[in-house]
Amino acid sequence: MSKNKTEKFREFESFTNTLDFNSDTKGKWHEIFGNTNPVVLELACGKGDYTVGLAKMFPEKNFIGIDIKGNRLWKGAGTALKEDLRNVRFLRIQIDFIEKHFEKDEVSEIWITFPDPQPQKLRKRLTSQVFLNRYRNIAKPNCVINLKTDSDLFYESTLETIAEESLEILENITNVYQLQVVPEILEIQTYYEKMWLGMGRTIKFLKFKLFSNSR
Ligand SMILES: C[S@@+](CC[C@H](N)C(=O)[O-])C[C@H]1O[C@@H](n2cnc3c(N)ncnc32)[C@H](O)[C@@H]1O
Repeated sequence: MSKNKTEKFREFESFTNTLDFNSDTKGKWHEIFGNTNPVVLELACGKGDYTVGLAKMFPEKNFIGIDIKGNRLWKGAGTALKEDLRNVRFLRIQIDFIEKHFEKDEVSEIWITFPDPQPQKLRKRLTSQVFLNRYRNIAKPNCVINLKTDSDLFYESTLETIAEESLEILENITNVYQLQVVPEILEIQTYYEKMWLGMGRTIKFLKFKLFSNSR
């Protein structure tokens, strides 16, 4: 019988690879991982599909999946434990308070996978200027953001922010699965991505620098 939300949440809290807003993590991530490898975040990770997929592809990096929903994080955290992926942690926090959990220069790269488009609340979008400024307080100067989304609204509003802030776009793919060869890194599919693909939506990918070159 499958576990209900409460059971998953309790189990999530008991896992050895999970942390939450009460955990003492700021400036301590290299200690937590037991190495000085780069730290990569997946924001709004849900079940943590990208966190787990990337961690297998890049064992020389550390990956942290972040979301507020423990019952969703339970899936990725359980998989990482079963597969003995030591370069993975899951952090249950509100991304709005991310600066409380990471020190300046602690983050090397960020993935944002199928975030809620927040049609009514621009400031709540995870690539709004408000959020980019939060990430700047925890990221290394060469940090890049990778965004995978089905939402035209989210994609267009991210492009607007990039233009307003004169950020450099490194990759801009309007339909990932129309590419002749889909890069291995983009072949990882999340729970929501599979759902949107099933409904015939196109998947967009943007990779851009978090800091402007003129900084
Ligand atoms: C549409 S789901 C995508 C989940 C996953 N990335 C996927 O593709 O399957 C969006 C996720 O973002 C999380 N989320 C939205 N806003 C958040 C915030 N401010 N802080 C933490 N999590 C947030 C939700 O809990 C949800 O799991």
